[in-house]
Amino acid sequence: MINLILFGPPGSGKGTQASRLVEKYNLLHISTGDLFRYNMKNDTPLGLEAKSYIEKGELVPDSVTINMLKAKVDENPDVAGYIFDGFPRTTPQAEALDELLEPKGGVSSLLMLDVPEEELVGRLLERGKTSGRKDDLDESIIRNRQEVYRNETMPIFDYYFKKGVSTKIWGVGSLDKVFSRLCLELDAL
Ligand code: C5P
Ligand code: MG
Repeated sequence: MINLILFGPPGSGKGTQASRLVEKYNLLHISTGDLFRYNMKNDTPLGLEAKSYIEKGELVPDSVTINMLKAKVDENPDVAGYIFDGFPRTTPQAEALDELLEPKGGVSSLLMLDVPEEELVGRLLERGKTSGRKDDLDESIIRNRQEVYRNETMPIFDYYFKKGVSTKIWGVGSLDKVFSRLCLELDAL
């Protein structure tokens, strides 16, 4: 199995690249952000709980996010592998993922899309014009999401670096260029 964590700050291109990678490698794309947005759109109890955090650019509590992710993996046991996009975002989430993937060979690779912060803010403001996402519209929320990433999520890179599976990928350039950089790493697995 290939169990890939597509890692990187908000706006680094995880979702865009994941949709291409799933086609080439026949993997299941699990985006926790998309799952939250689906639940918010449908006014489910989970969506209502997540909404207040997401609209401020804060993280949803670990237990909520972990249970949602586990349910999605358990619903789809017979796949060639998974691309985790937007998860894990905290150390407890990484530990939960390791436990969940233990019978599936563990995390194969974490690829981090490295993009300078000013470029990220510009991309997200641009995306906000069409994405319909409230958290993409306000620069202070966008900056808060970057800060949450630096403080709470960035340590996950080192967590998996110590396990020998983390790699940084330069995330600036055309979609095709970034895609081929990612493929180079995946083909080497
Ligand atoms: O991954 P994405 O940027 O789409 O996530 C949107 C929002 O969903 C995050 O800013 C955060 O509020 C919430 N989220 C979370 N924990 C995750 C993934 C997403 O709290 N693991
Ligand atoms: Mg995304």
